[in-house]
Amino acid sequence: MILEAKSISKNFGGLQAISKVDFAVEEGEIRGLIGPNGAGKTTFFNLVSGYHKPSSGDIILAGENINKLKPNQIAKLGLVRTFQETTLFHEMTVQENVSLGFHLQIKSTILSTLLHTSSYLREQEKISEKATDLLEFMGIGDLKDEVAKNLPHGHQRALAIAIGLAAKPKVLLLDEPVTGMNPKETAVMVERIRKIRDEMGMTIILVEHDMKAVIGLSDRLTVLNYGKKIAEGSPQEVIENKEVITAYLGTEED
Ligand SMILES: Nc1ncnc2c1ncn2[C@@H]1O[C@H](COP(=O)(O)OP(=O)(O)OP(=O)(O)O)[C@@H](O)[C@H]1O
Ligand SMILES: [Mg+2]
Repeated sequence: MILEAKSISKNFGGLQAISKVDFAVEEGEIRGLIGPNGAGKTTFFNLVSGYHKPSSGDIILAGENINKLKPNQIAKLGLVRTFQETTLFHEMTVQENVSLGFHLQIKSTILSTLLHTSSYLREQEKISEKATDLLEFMGIGDLKDEVAKNLPHGHQRALAIAIGLAAKPKVLLLDEPVTGMNPKETAVMVERIRKIRDEMGMTIILVEHDMKAVIGLSDRLTVLNYGKKIAEGSPQEVIENKEVITAYLGTEED
C-alpha cells in the first residue's frame, strides 16, 4: 500500500468531520472519494496532505508515518495535492507557474541562485524545458506564455495539475478536477488524468461530484457520509449499495 490511513479522526470543536476512517490505496490505483456536501472529503485530503493534524489515528505514506509532518515535508516524500479552489500565481505566466512547481526538487543553493552562476542558469534552462514538456502533456503547451489569471477555468485546472506534477509525486490528490467544466472539457480532463496514471505510473486519489467522471475513472470508490466511511468497492458495487443511495437521495420519508 502506498498510502494508508488507520482509524483517523478529526474534530473541529464538537463536530466530527472525520470519524475513525480506515483507508488504503495501492500503488498505481485511481481511487475516487465521494460523498454528499460536507461529508468530510476535503478534510480527509487536508489530513493526509498535512494541512490539518488528525485528532487521532495514523497516516502512513510509503511505509513512513507522516502524522506530524508539514505539507512541504509530505510533498517531498511524494504526496502532492491540488485544491478545490485553484491556487495559482495569477500574475505569472503559465510556464513560470510550472517552473515554480519544480523548485521543490531544484538542487541550486541559495548562494548560487543569488550569483546566477552557470550551474544555476543551466538548471533554469532544464526546468524551463521540463515545464514545457509537462504543459504539453496536459494539453496546454500553446498557452505557456499567457498570464495564468487570463486562462479559462478548464485550462486553469490543467495548469494546477501540471504544477502538482512538477513536484514528481508518487501520490497525487485531486480535489474536484472537473467540477464546473462542460461535458467536452470534462471528457478531455478525464482522459488526461487516466494518462497521468498510465504513463507516469502515479497513484491518484480524486474527490469529485461529477459521478459519470469519477465512476468512469476510478478503479475503486470510497464513500464518506457525515465523516464516516459508509462503503468501498468497485464503482458498480458502490452505486448499488443501499446505504450509499440513501446518503445521496435520502429516505423515502424525506
Ligand atoms: N477548518 C474547519 N473548521 C471547522 N469546521 C470545518 C473546517 N473544515 C471543514 N469543516 C466542517 O467539516 C465538515 C466536512 O467538511 P469538508 O469540507 O471536508 O466536506 P466535503 O465533503 O469536502 O464537502 P464538499 O463536497 O461540499 O466540498 C463540514 O461540516 C465542514 O463545515
Ligand atoms: Mg470539499
